[in-house]
Order: sequence, then C-alpha cells, then structure tokens
Amino acid sequence: MTSPSPYASTLDVLAGLLPPHLLQPRVGIVCGSGLSTLASSLRDVHEVPYSALDGFGKSTVEGHKSALAFGLIGPGEGIPVVAMLGRFHPYEGHKLSTVVYPIRILAKLGVRDLIITNASGGLNPNLAVGTIVVIQDHLALPNLTGPLNPLLGPQTSPDHPRFVPLSDAYSTKLRRLAFLAAHDLSFDDDALAEGVYAWVSGPTYETPAEGRFLRAAGADVVGMSTVPEVVVAKEEGMEVMVLSLVTNPVVIPDTYRSIKEEVKAELAGKPVELPVMPVVSHDDVLAVGRQKAEAMKQLVARIIEMIPHV
Ligand code: 6GU
Repeated sequence: MTSPSPYASTLDVLAGLLPPHLLQPRVGIVCGSGLSTLASSLRDVHEVPYSALDGFGKSTVEGHKSALAFGLIGPGEGIPVVAMLGRFHPYEGHKLSTVVYPIRILAKLGVRDLIITNASGGLNPNLAVGTIVVIQDHLALPNLTGPLNPLLGPQTSPDHPRFVPLSDAYSTKLRRLAFLAAHDLSFDDDALAEGVYAWVSGPTYETPAEGRFLRAAGADVVGMSTVPEVVVAKEEGMEVMVLSLVTNPVVIPDTYRSIKEEVKAELAGKPVELPVMPVVSHDDVLAVGRQKAEAMKQLVARIIEMIPHV
C-alpha cells in the first residue's frame, strides 16, 4: 500500500495558521544561499517553520533558514507572496521528491509566478563576481547529474503532462520585467546579465577541467540547485524566472600553467613560482550573498510590483 499523500495535511496546517488574505499567494520566491533576507521586504509577515509541515525536509546548509514566510509586497493592499527561506538539495541526501515538494505546495496554494534565486560559480569570464544573471536556459544532461530528474517515475497525475517541454522554461515575460526593474532602480548596465545555468549535484565544487568543459558546452554559470524546482514548476504550469548571483569565478583564464614547463624553466636556472590555484569556500559564497542581498531584494520586490495582477 502506498502512504497517503501529505499534501492535504500540509495544506490543512497552513490553513490553520494563516489569515485568509495570506493563504493564496500569487507569487513565490525561493531564497538561495545568504539571500533569506529577501523576505524582509514583506509586510504582515507570518513565518511557518518547515518542521511544522509534513513532507518538508530540514535544510541542513548554513545560510539557509528553514521556514516559509507569507506576507504582502508592493503598495496599496499589496500582493500576497510566499518566500521559501531555505531549500533542499540532492547533495544533502534529500530525494528529488523532497527537493520539489515545496514547489508543489506553492502550486496548490495558487502561486502563478515563481522567482528562484541562487548562488553560482562564474564560467563566463565576462561575468564579474557580484553580477546577477537572469537565467535564460539550463544544462542538466543526465551525464552531468546522474539520472536526476524530478519527474522520473509515474506520471504525477492525469492532469500533469507526461512529457514536459522546457524550451520555454524561463519565462520571457518575467525576464523582460527583470531588465525593466533594473532600469527603474538605476542599476549599472553590467549589474544584471543573462546566461545559461549548468546544474551539477555537488557537494564538490568543480575542478578547473570541469569548469572549462561546462563553459565549452555553453554554460555561463554553474550551481547545485534550482533545476529540479524549475522542472516541477513548469510541470505545474507556473511562469518561472531564475536570478543567479555569481559568487566566485570557476573558469579563470591563464591560471592553468604546465608544471612540466615550470620544472624545465627551474632546471634552466630561471626563477619560477608555482601557480596557486584559487579555492572557493562556502563562506565566500555566503559573503557575496550578503553583500548583494539588498540589490537582489530591491530587484525582486520591483519585479513583483510590475507583474500584472488580475
Ligand atoms: Cl563554484 N560551483 C557550484 N557547483 N555551485 C556554486 C558555486 C560553484 N559557487 C556557488 N555555488
């Protein structure tokens, strides 16, 4: 016998905790590493810890809170939104069904537009650390991530498509609003770029050769999250946008010097200094997240205000 779906119980708990005007959020936000402060632009905030919700895992990553924040954004009555403070990743040992469970709950609550944020490594050398990249497409080939696709298995329901197209995964409507919002906020032209996200499982960061491989394959940034959520949000019929904050460079031109050549030079009596490979740490990633949280917050709030709400 299969266990009953926890959706109904999760939705009941939320209905019991939230005032009616917050229970049907129109817009969802997923806050990535160091970006949980995005929720501070909400008014009338009601936070529900993941631990109170059946089916939710526990986020084990530092820099991720573990709660849903419901609230209002924008002038007047305000637009009801829900923010995920912290997400689940396959590298924490969570099943993909757990990774995407909150997205399904957001869909059932009525979220139509989903704004996902994350931290990523830069593959395109033109993207400086601190750039926010509006994702236009992704690479999640089976040989990059193992057989990881949140839709593997039986069809979710007869109402969900069996084969979900992803050629329009990244909403042109929302991406347009992102660039208009950045203009409104007088962001520098290079503060907001666009690019392709490569999804890898982690938790190791890329080797330099893997970084060059992903760059050669056409990706601009790389990260360990987001794609399962995008796939399920599309299956659920949502409009999706991803804002990816570049927190560290992965492909660094001219860093990969030949040690064989260095030793030859050394033996020929030339002064040599062995190359030092830069290494990234989660603390670096969080620090850039914190530095850019305010810009990201303003951008997300402005985009939400610009979404036509009917
Ligand atoms: Cl360098 N790699 C991956 N896979 N994820 C990241 C990252 C790098 N920087 C932030 N997130």
